Amino acid sequence: DWSMAAYRAEMVQKIRDQVGSGKVICALSGGVDSSVAALLIHEAIGDQLSCILVDHGLMRMNEAADVVAMFHEHYNLNLKMVDASDRFISQLEGEADPETKRKTIGRLFIEVFEEEARKIGGADFLAQGTLYPDVIESVSFSGGPSVTIKSHHNVGGLPERMNMQLVEPLRELFKDEVRALGRELGLPDSFIGRHPFPGPGLAIRCPGGISREKLDILRQADAIYLDEIRKAGLYDTIWQAFAVLLPVQTVGVMGDGRTYEFVCALRAVTSVDGMTADFFPYDMDFLGKTATRIINEVKGINRVVYDVTSKPPGTIEWE
Ligand code: XMP
Repeated sequence: DWSMAAYRAEMVQKIRDQVGSGKVICALSGGVDSSVAALLIHEAIGDQLSCILVDHGLMRMNEAADVVAMFHEHYNLNLKMVDASDRFISQLEGEADPETKRKTIGRLFIEVFEEEARKIGGADFLAQGTLYPDVIESVSFSGGPSVTIKSHHNVGGLPERMNMQLVEPLRELFKDEVRALGRELGLPDSFIGRHPFPGPGLAIRCPGGISREKLDILRQADAIYLDEIRKAGLYDTIWQAFAVLLPVQTVGVMGDGRTYEFVCALRAVTSVDGMTADFFPYDMDFLGKTATRIINEVKGINRVVYDVTSKPPGTIEWE
């Protein structure tokens, strides 16, 4: 892609001009945005960049390990994984309020990141994979007033506290352009095409009080759901798909016994930029097959429902 090759060269030069001989730290989640930002900055300044992956215990099945393995296999950038899951989960246990969850996770993330940054001697710059749509801070629906729907989790507040400047090489780009740039930088297809995943992770897919047990159940259901989507060849057609574990138990029957377990909701949407979205029209065979697998394989779930809400009026995530 000619335009992306040119953009890449231009950004590499801009990053070099901005950073000089300074040090940059980057919170790498393994999402497309932070991965592409890290690769671009690494190309520009090499070992002056250190990446930190904070595992908050709210990631999907094997996610943190997969991300670290991919970077080690394909690139030689400095990447440290920090397992902070106990710290996050112990503070979130029982928390049911969506905004409190988001704020607690944001605060803890900054704490952990700050500690880790200090351990590696601090830095002059903080790298972020901020995209153009993220720059538009509030969501305005046509005709309506501009309102903030959710507190987005990012590393806001950190640069001032740590006396750092921001490096945001993706600020002018939309998601599809970031993907094109990632391809240009040799990021494997399996990473380029990854669905967006929110910073607060599975915490906001677990309405009602959070517990380790619920997160484990959710992780298993989500992995099966995504496996079925991939097998059906639908992963790239869908913008985002995930399971939500509802804080509701229902009666069921399995073998000759009564069950009383949680309900799992499945969500899938198509979208161009996440600002608006349509629910994905699966065929019923797919939904039936997936529901059967989840119920048979995941202890703790005995009912599966499909979310047919578009955005607006629903948001993509449930919280
Ligand atoms: P909603 O749920 O508002 O989400 O329709 C739109 C897109 O943003 C993602 N999302 C987040 N991403 N931090 C993020 O980095 C967050 O706090 C956050 N909340 C929602 C969501 O997954 C969807 O792609």
